[in-house]
Amino acid sequence: MITSNKKINLDLNELFQLAQKPPVYSKGTKVFWQESHIAKRVLDVHLDPYSEKASKRAETIEKEVTFIAEYLNLNDEQAVIDLGCGPGLYCEKFYNYSKNITGMDFSCNSISYAQDSAKNKNLNIKYIHNNYLDMQLQNCYDAAFVIFYDFGALLKDEMHVLLDKINNALKPGGYFVFDILTPKYYESEEVKSNWYIEVGGFWNPAAHMVLEKNFYYPEESASLYQILVVSEIGNIDVYRIYQTFFTLPTIKSLLEQHNFIVKNVFNDLSGTTFDETSKTMGIFAQKVR
Ligand SMILES: C[S@@+](CC[C@H](N)C(=O)[O-])C[C@H]1O[C@@H](n2cnc3c(N)ncnc32)[C@H](O)[C@@H]1O
Repeated sequence: MITSNKKINLDLNELFQLAQKPPVYSKGTKVFWQESHIAKRVLDVHLDPYSEKASKRAETIEKEVTFIAEYLNLNDEQAVIDLGCGPGLYCEKFYNYSKNITGMDFSCNSISYAQDSAKNKNLNIKYIHNNYLDMQLQNCYDAAFVIFYDFGALLKDEMHVLLDKINNALKPGGYFVFDILTPKYYESEEVKSNWYIEVGGFWNPAAHMVLEKNFYYPEESASLYQILVVSEIGNIDVYRIYQTFFTLPTIKSLLEQHNFIVKNVFNDLSGTTFDETSKTMGIFAQKVR
């Protein structure tokens, strides 16, 4: 029950403006992964081996690590970096193949969990707390990973920045391994337009109202899941979570602009044979120069 007796000072005009479809790739006022209240809730979801909301299921992670490690013939000679590593679920599994594993993430909560977990298990994994769009690494890694459809969650200009950063960070011939969603995924998604009021939920620890809606931008083949969180004093936080959907030709063309060539494509990172009807793709791209 909501017991607050604070007077709400809500600017309905602002709310009305925010509820309209925004220009594609315009940012919200808050970054989902970096809000401390949300980060704590997200960490619990990452660690649930049966949930597919923040990380894939434990069984899928195991299959993907096995396939990627075998594909790359991963061994101690090879250095790899997992970008957006979260609490280190993949890094710890990759450590069975190479002792030269680095994870990078900008969530304090996830990185400190990953560091503690590695220490407790006596795994010598290097974790870096950093925004991967700011990384300044040159010629260090044999492979870089971005896993759980995070590449498509970037804004368009961020995708270009990240591809350049990864190209710089890789050694000649190094691999960029990642997964993305295809337009088939979007076609199967439900249109969401919903509101609710709660106390101490996912988005805010106090009483708040949530207005959530998704929008589609056919020209960019992108969708937006927008969440407006109205606090008990009438502040409105705006979260915008985009996803860009790729076909094989569109991702190939983007990678080529950044000196990568697609060596192999699968339906997923477990190595399922590629077919045009898949909602996801697992890409193994190689740095050409
Ligand atoms: C969907 S989770 C996936 C985590 C991990 N790859 C997995 O599959 O278990 C996305 C992660 O990427 C991180 N992330 C998103 N954007 C980032 C950025 N620009 N720099 C560093 N980390 C980022 C988030 O903090 C979050 O931990």
